[in-house]
Amino acid sequence: MLLKIPKVLTPEELAQVRQLVLCADWADGRITAGSQSGSVKNNRQLPEELPAAQQARHIVSVALARNPQFVTGALPKSVYPPLFNRYSGGANFFGNHIDNAVRTHAATARHVRTDMSCTLFLSDAESYDGGELVVQDTYGEQRIKFAAGDLVMYPGTSVHRVEPVTRGERLACFFWVESMVRSDAQRRLLYDMDMAITALRRQNLALNNEPGQSPLSGERPEVVTLTGCYHNLLRMWADV
Ligand code: NI
Repeated sequence: MLLKIPKVLTPEELAQVRQLVLCADWADGRITAGSQSGSVKNNRQLPEELPAAQQARHIVSVALARNPQFVTGALPKSVYPPLFNRYSGGANFFGNHIDNAVRTHAATARHVRTDMSCTLFLSDAESYDGGELVVQDTYGEQRIKFAAGDLVMYPGTSVHRVEPVTRGERLACFFWVESMVRSDAQRRLLYDMDMAITALRRQNLALNNEPGQSPLSGERPEVVTLTGCYHNLLRMWADV
């Protein structure tokens, strides 16, 4: 499942993150690459131990935790602390690769299985040319370039690349999620079900609030049953 999550950061948070990371000292992007991806990686990356990286990471982490679409789409068990990269000038692309299956966070020695890869766009889309995230899936290639503050989440199993940036600069935050539900197909089913139940509840609420309707004493029984089915599927599939 490839999921767009708009407006993960508020304009204020976006400005804060940009200011923090752009003033810091950047390094060669190969600091976190494996040997195959390192051979096609040509960008810059913010060393994760820098104070600016830690502060920016905190802002993103708080924003993710409060975002219902991220939580229901990822069902996160563990999130790799967000990293930052930039593409411009002579360091402007990242060729086809698949992200390492397991990332080990250096500071904590914690392992994160990369069920999902996420990119949070930090540059205004009009401010640079190229820089599309291209993700290969069974429907063909998806070319992704979202507004600043929007996030894309895609299966960690996908071959992907970042096209060369030919004008301006592409600044982004990226990270991986280990999900409570390992299977992409199961996560998708749960996500669709959750979204449909939420829409049904909203419709019911609107009906209940129409003039002449007596105040309801709780949810409709069908919604209760479907919500129960969701949780029972999650109980069957979740590994926590
Ligand atoms: Ni990658």
